[in-house]
Amino acid sequence: MDIRFLEAGTEAAGDGAPMVVARIVDQDALPADLEPVLGEAARASRFTGKPGQLFEGFVTRDGAVVRVVLLGAGESDAKDRDLALEKAGAALSARFLAAGVEGVQLDLRGPALSAEGAARVLLGARLRAWRMDAYRTTQKPEQKRTLMRIAVSGAPAGTEAVWQREAAVAEGVEFTRELVTEPANILFPESFVARCEARFAGTGVAMRVLDEPAMRELGMGALLGVAQGSVRPPRLLALEWNGGGDAARPTVFIGKGVTFDTGGISLKPPAGMEDMKWDMGGAGAVAGAMLALAGRKAKAHVVGICGLVENMPDGNAQRPGDVVTSMSGQTIEVINTDAEGRLVLCDALTWAQRVWSPARIVDLATLTGAIIATLAMEYAGIFSNDDPLADALASAGEATGEKLWRLPMGAAYDKQLDSGIADMKNVGGRYGGSITAAQFLQRFIDKGQAWAHLDIAGTVWADKPGATWDKGATGYGVRLLDRFVRDTLEG
Ligand code: BES
Ligand code: MN
Ligand code: ZN
Repeated sequence: MDIRFLEAGTEAAGDGAPMVVARIVDQDALPADLEPVLGEAARASRFTGKPGQLFEGFVTRDGAVVRVVLLGAGESDAKDRDLALEKAGAALSARFLAAGVEGVQLDLRGPALSAEGAARVLLGARLRAWRMDAYRTTQKPEQKRTLMRIAVSGAPAGTEAVWQREAAVAEGVEFTRELVTEPANILFPESFVARCEARFAGTGVAMRVLDEPAMRELGMGALLGVAQGSVRPPRLLALEWNGGGDAARPTVFIGKGVTFDTGGISLKPPAGMEDMKWDMGGAGAVAGAMLALAGRKAKAHVVGICGLVENMPDGNAQRPGDVVTSMSGQTIEVINTDAEGRLVLCDALTWAQRVWSPARIVDLATLTGAIIATLAMEYAGIFSNDDPLADALASAGEATGEKLWRLPMGAAYDKQLDSGIADMKNVGGRYGGSITAAQFLQRFIDKGQAWAHLDIAGTVWADKPGATWDKGATGYGVRLLDRFVRDTLEG
């Protein structure tokens, strides 16, 4: 989506169709300069300006037909005002994305918007307009995307500068959505890395890639055990952005990048297995967040690590009962080959701590179905050994709408992982599956290492449209991590 700021006094050029002009409307506060007939029509259709509500009507202005769109932004003093403004922008895109109009004008005069607030309207509009049509060749004209341009007028002073920053975040979210949406025959460990190589060229991000021999050398038996059933070789990818700050000890983000999860020999049932193309959503979020940070030249030192494997059940696949040795030296009895994410992450965690001595680690993973049973799509789960870190992440979640809910950890849960033959099993008992998964990861965290684990299995993919996304990949995690960096490392 091309978002452009108009000089004061100019109007967007039409494309033949009636010009579309959108306005932001606070709750019960129709614009004072609105034509009375539009005001009446809006009231008659019970438009009150609730967040995301949309009204549309036609008037003649100077002899030309103008299509006027009112976008509800809710109460001006609402606690979640910024999210309501995003919804207003998103409503515009959702309405016109395939409505036959190529460009709309967004007139931000009226409600008292800050530059920050105005940029949130634009962010909502841009994010909601993303969709992937790469594999559609037979769309009917009325299904095709038409909206490509938003011309912004009447924005408060300073909006363009704030938008520059938010546009970098949008780039990151869109990159994540692209990675998450791609099917597993297209996106696998090597092609994930290749896409990052193309995307990060010229951004100032340094890339480091470990191939299978390099991982074997380092003793990453847990990650390699998962990968051994696939013909597609694994990769461990590190993306480093050093924009200043506490340069000696970076913040490290780690993402689960299982490019397809069949379950392995502990095979998943067929129904819904196609969803497991997005089992790389954690790695996708990490890559997108790194793109956002580099794009807006964040003043922070951050390393993003993606653990990339495909979990398949071939003749060389690992078996339930196999014992593998992780890079940390701890041995793991693989009871269930479908609990593979933790096996990938544990070696990535050890590698991160050995190479970077991180100030803090945040991992993101579509780790358990149990987190979906617990929190549905509303919140991702957060587990942490560090209260300030957990609180900072939760605040970043509230500010961006990518919400987190903290769940407990403790010795009683950890005990469930004890094994009769090795240092631990890779699964716990029947209950508390998200917690025992977190306990497993914690066994690979060095003493004193600040760490948080985000179980994002419920938030990566949406089966219906949401605030700033269509159904499909949400891009969850990018805005959360970007905001965390802003408020905690740059603040
Ligand atoms: N990738 C899945 C978790 C998942 C399930 C993500 C549904 C998104 C939607 C993970 O690898 C997995 O299979 N977890 C198992 C763990 C179990 C075997 C202990 C699960 O949640 O069932
Ligand atoms: Mn699995
Ligand atoms: Zn998985």
